[in-house]
Amino acid sequence: MNILGIETSCDETAVGVVEDGTGLRSSVVASQSELHARFGGVVPEIASRAHLELVNPTIAQALIEAGLELSDIGAVAACSGPGLAGSLLVGVSAAKAVALCQGIPYVGVNHLEGHLYAAFLEEPDLNPPLAFLLVSGGHTMIVTMEGHGRYRVLGQTIDDAAGEAFDKVAKLLGLGFPGGPAVERIARTGDARAIAFPTANMSDGAPDFSFSGIKTAVSLHVRRTGPLGPQQVADVAASFQATAVKMLVRKTVRAALRLGIHRLVLTGGVAANTALREGLEAECRERAWVLHVPSRRLCTDNAAMIAAAGHDRLEAGELAPLNLNAVPDLALA
Ligand code: KG4
Ligand code: ZN
Repeated sequence: MNILGIETSCDETAVGVVEDGTGLRSSVVASQSELHARFGGVVPEIASRAHLELVNPTIAQALIEAGLELSDIGAVAACSGPGLAGSLLVGVSAAKAVALCQGIPYVGVNHLEGHLYAAFLEEPDLNPPLAFLLVSGGHTMIVTMEGHGRYRVLGQTIDDAAGEAFDKVAKLLGLGFPGGPAVERIARTGDARAIAFPTANMSDGAPDFSFSGIKTAVSLHVRRTGPLGPQQVADVAASFQATAVKMLVRKTVRAALRLGIHRLVLTGGVAANTALREGLEAECRERAWVLHVPSRRLCTDNAAMIAAAGHDRLEAGELAPLNLNAVPDLALA
């Protein structure tokens, strides 16, 4: 069965088609980042209006790329939270309209569950139990999947998300928006050992993360040092990135050791970061653990992951009523 996935939780209008749960037929992402760049962050009102304009053409494009007609679609899955209320409503309403017109089932999918399911699009044989490091613009968590649909959040950030920290540091360094890719780009020419930024909450073994301390440390450093030259900007970016990666990798390895789960997945927008991918890969290789990291376009927001998660929800007999609402603070578990 082909499932049409729709994702509009933040500033990407994304539509994808997945066949039988893991067969990626298409994944189209219309990014709005240019619309938000001059504001230095996502403006919710602008995002929801742009989703309205983009959602129908993106559905059409996803069908074309999948080589399918709307009549070939067996069910629709829409991200129903967490995210921006106005943005979520556009995707949820579009999914309802398609389901109603085509007389097919419709299901709501948690955005975070979607990020976990990105793993199965390229590794359909990956089986629970799995430990996930989910790092995005709004979330940073270690999650275990004991079975499909059965999750336990082991630890999460107590303040900023990892992606948020990248975005804020990019802003402090005048690198623009979105910040993560910009920090990564400039960090390539910097010295990661130039500045010793503090690692938060590392010694007590707690599985929670904290990124507000390092963000403040970068801010103080920038203020103290005065206007930074290009090499200094690169050094700050590289030192920040190395410290953030160290925190993420150490906590994940410790959690996996404690859990006794040696099959790991790295996912979410920040998982596109090469230093993080390589850092966790090195630790897993050393221990002969299995690590799956989806390709970058499946780590960042997309709708194929929503369709993949929707497939399992539907298989479990879950159907959303047509009055299903968007839930901006929807929890994973
Ligand atoms: O999962 P995602 O696409 O959207 C959310 O659900 O939030 O993640 C977006 C976050 C942003 O904070 C962005 O700066 C960060 O992922 N990001 C990166 C990279 N690419 C995206 N952070 C570090 N390095 C990257 N290459
Ligand atoms: Zn996301």
